[in-house]
Amino acid sequence: MINLSKLKVLSIFGTRPEAIKMAPIVKKIEENENIEGKVCVTAQHREMLDQVLNIFDIKPDYDLNIFKPGQTLTQITTRSLKGLEDVIKKENPDVLLVQGDTTTVFAGALAGFYHKVKIGHVEAGLRSGNLYSPYPEEANRKLTGVLTDFHFAPTEKSKENLLKEGYPEEKIFVTGNTVIDALLDVVSEDYKFGDELLNNIDYENKKVILLTSHRRENLGKPMENIFSAIRDVVLKNKDVEVVFPIHLNPKVREIANNILKGLDRVHIIEPLDYLPFANLMARVYLVVTDSGGIQEEAPSLGKPVLVVRKETERPEGIKAGTAKLVGIDRENIFKEVDLLVNSKEEYKKMANAVNPYGDGKAAERIVNILLEKTICN
Ligand code: UD1
Ligand code: UDP
Repeated sequence: MINLSKLKVLSIFGTRPEAIKMAPIVKKIEENENIEGKVCVTAQHREMLDQVLNIFDIKPDYDLNIFKPGQTLTQITTRSLKGLEDVIKKENPDVLLVQGDTTTVFAGALAGFYHKVKIGHVEAGLRSGNLYSPYPEEANRKLTGVLTDFHFAPTEKSKENLLKEGYPEEKIFVTGNTVIDALLDVVSEDYKFGDELLNNIDYENKKVILLTSHRRENLGKPMENIFSAIRDVVLKNKDVEVVFPIHLNPKVREIANNILKGLDRVHIIEPLDYLPFANLMARVYLVVTDSGGIQEEAPSLGKPVLVVRKETERPEGIKAGTAKLVGIDRENIFKEVDLLVNSKEEYKKMANAVNPYGDGKAAERIVNILLEKTICN
């Protein structure tokens, strides 16, 4: 029998980072007897999404399975919108939740708006100030913001961004970022990797760099610069070893193969499950990345993170001193990585565990706010 007084929440996500950051909310909703939760994945990502669903034991009620290799932004948007229409009509939720800034997020919010469903945007208010960087994420977040009823801002800074754009204060809630909720659950000192290569790395005596890169605006020359700079660092410093769990995008793979393949101390491996990835991050010396989520995780693990992008929507880590924006110029990236590899002093300045992105209770706050605000209104 359906309890009609329950709040019905439909969570929509499609890619690896959304799944990681929505998982704590999906779990809190499952535990809450006042909410009926449903999950719909667009499957904008396939393998990389399924990895996360398995780890967190999430079984979606709907899987739109839209993924196609080489998918364009238009295809992701239209396939998601079309599939979501049927799900929303069938479920008729009170609230629809989306997370972050992918194309699934924008399509999810738009689909909800077309059916006049209230939208909750998790990780609202991040802004780089440049519509083309990150591309198309900056636009996705702004477009989603316009359609949102509950803006769950991870930090005070993101709240400020929303206030500046004229969003009313009573619709903005500072919750922390759910990425920290997920992270705190999975990192442990005695973790053993499934892959012996990762168990056998000498994390004490080698300077292990964890590398990831996938941003659309970095494809091409910027990515060539990033990988060439890493190559230069490896060739110069015999104590450096690189682990690169490579994104499944064939365009990323082609550039990486051309520049990094065949180097003894560079391990290009398949995307890691979230558990080994988080534990690897906790053991390495330094992180070099253009990822959004990793910029949030590394500071809370006390790992210096060099951000290979022109601008970032996550200034909190930089302000706290754990993250540094190093751009996409080959010489500059080389200089900054080499500095942290060779200067104990510079390294120490950055290797501090700070938590500008939350205390691990964001999901709980979001669920409580949803209940409180929807019951009252
Ligand atoms: C997407 C998001 C980006 C997010 C990133 C997280 C958009 C426009 N981009 O970028 O914001 O930071 O996810 O990783 O929403 N592929 C596979 N299997 C997978 C996933 C991807 O083979 O499970 C390959 C496919 O060839 C696909 C390509 O990677 O065409 C790119 O995937 P796509 O979702 O279009 O963009 P991402 O670069 O992953
Ligand atoms: N991650 C993972 N396995 C990997 C690389 C990353 O589980 O091989 C996790 C990482 O911990 C973070 C998220 O994926 O939580 C970041 O995803 P990505 O960099 O693809 O996307 P972004 O955050 O840039 O949108």
